Amino acid sequence: MASTAYTRPSKPPGPVGDRRQPRLAKELGRIEPKKLGIGLVAGCCLALLTYISFARLFAIYSPVFESSSLVVKNAPPASITVPSTDGVPVQEEKILVDEEKEIAKEEAEPKEPSFSEEAKIAKEEEEPLQESEKEVAVLAKLDGGAAAAEAKITCDENAVDEGFPYARPSVCELTGEVRISPKEKTMFFVNPTGAGPFDENAEKKIRPYARKDTFLLPGVVEVTIKSVPSASAAPECARRHEVPAVVFSTAGYTDNFFHDNTDVMIPLFLSASHFAGEVQLLITNYKPWWVKKYAPLLKKLSNYEVINFDKEEAVHCFPGGQLGLYRDRDLIIGPHPTRNPRNYTMVDYNRFLRRAYGLPRDVPAVLGEKTGTRPKMLMIERKGTRKLLNLHVVAALCEQLGFDVTVSEAGGEVRDFAEKVNSADVLLAVHGAGMTNQIFLPTGAVLVQIVPWGKMDWMATNFYGQPARDMQLRYVEYYVSEEETTLKHKYPRDHYVFKDPMAIHAQGWPGIAEIIMKQDVEVNITRFKPFLLQALDQLQD
Ligand SMILES: *[C@@H]1O[C@H](CO)[C@@H](O)[C@H](O)[C@H]1NC(C)=O
Ligand SMILES: *[C@@H]1O[C@H](CO)[C@@H](O)[C@H](O)[C@H]1NC(C)=O
Repeated sequence: MASTAYTRPSKPPGPVGDRRQPRLAKELGRIEPKKLGIGLVAGCCLALLTYISFARLFAIYSPVFESSSLVVKNAPPASITVPSTDGVPVQEEKILVDEEKEIAKEEAEPKEPSFSEEAKIAKEEEEPLQESEKEVAVLAKLDGGAAAAEAKITCDENAVDEGFPYARPSVCELTGEVRISPKEKTMFFVNPTGAGPFDENAEKKIRPYARKDTFLLPGVVEVTIKSVPSASAAPECARRHEVPAVVFSTAGYTDNFFHDNTDVMIPLFLSASHFAGEVQLLITNYKPWWVKKYAPLLKKLSNYEVINFDKEEAVHCFPGGQLGLYRDRDLIIGPHPTRNPRNYTMVDYNRFLRRAYGLPRDVPAVLGEKTGTRPKMLMIERKGTRKLLNLHVVAALCEQLGFDVTVSEAGGEVRDFAEKVNSADVLLAVHGAGMTNQIFLPTGAVLVQIVPWGKMDWMATNFYGQPARDMQLRYVEYYVSEEETTLKHKYPRDHYVFKDPMAIHAQGWPGIAEIIMKQDVEVNITRFKPFLLQALDQLQD
């Protein structure tokens, strides 16, 4: 019954002489069981906690609830905003929201995020889109063919990802004339046959935030696709565009760097990068500071100024469009015939980021290439919870082992921190949203994750470990022992915190937030050193 993901002990790596080949094999060997583990974990936990719905269990593992009170809030967090002269809030500092200070009781447990439908743990059911048909339609349109006759709508709404109930948001793709009236929150779709997934009013409504999370979706502006038999039944165009429209929301958990990526930027990359800039983005729940914060990425994806869907008055017309964004698991994206038909990978996303921010390094330094080259290590320092108490001792050890160490808090201007990360060969951090910055590492660099006490395997693996592998980074994980956590000062050793950490998870988010997320760690240098050597070793390819 035990799942590999939950029972994996923290074992020191093999002797340093045991080089790449076997180790790589070992790494690969561990991935598969872990993937299986996701399913097994589910079964295991269901048995343990029959009162917690399957989906909710995974919902509580989201870094979301580590993060913030931002839910459904469109104003920038006060901590990062200063008023500018023109009254538009200017985004400043601090990419990361510190989980801890927001772990207030009232928000600790979201109001019943009941994924009732998803929780049926149905298999992925989805109508296969006729991708080829769609392409044909687009081509016909481009050729000036009978556009009206080719009108087509395909919606992806009922897909379920068992381990990640929020991973399949609703998306509709429209081929044919689309007239967008932001004032009416409506996309009029010229659709002579009326075919499509419309209700009795010929409408289809979607809240286009790329995370299917019933807790936050009520705060997302609902947009209607209205099927009309002819263009004359739609409002007149104030402006015609030659490129398709993509409408999405920046509501929800944005401003947490993890979620900025998982819920918006990666989905947008999946949905729009193939247009090579020839696409018009329309954003609802528009946050000016957010658009400013990610301007380099938005500019890379679209050659046109973003339209604020909440404010725009004029009717804009397009030769096609999309409502909502495709999305996969957090920092993990896999091939999929309709949601990711171009087989984008996280490596593609990394490359996109490097181009957008002008980050110079695609690969890390290879040791031994130049004599005297010291590998650069960036240690992300956390100041709230999950602090590395002996950070300076660890840093000194790293220096002694040959690393050129920089210690920095994540945050600040995205580009500045991205440059800092990109210049590193090794990124070392205690589990937390700051690890999302691994997306800026050069391909082949090493990520070292220190995982605090409390059976955090699922989170450690799914939020950062597996993504690192998918980004073709080398990955080293270190699970602290009960000797290395400050929890030992709070709880006796015979407490369930040590004897049965799964009992913490059984309490749901409050337990995780109060116990697991709030510990600090002090790593045992003797025990940790081999892992640093492993990181060094990995750079010697
Ligand atoms: C994506 O991968 C599938 C199989 O994994 C393959 O059949 C398809 O041709 C690929 N698509 C592209 C655009 O490379
Ligand atoms: C540190 O780890 C080493 C090796 O595992 C162990 O022998 C030693 O007792 C540990 N030190 C402390 C203080 O726990």
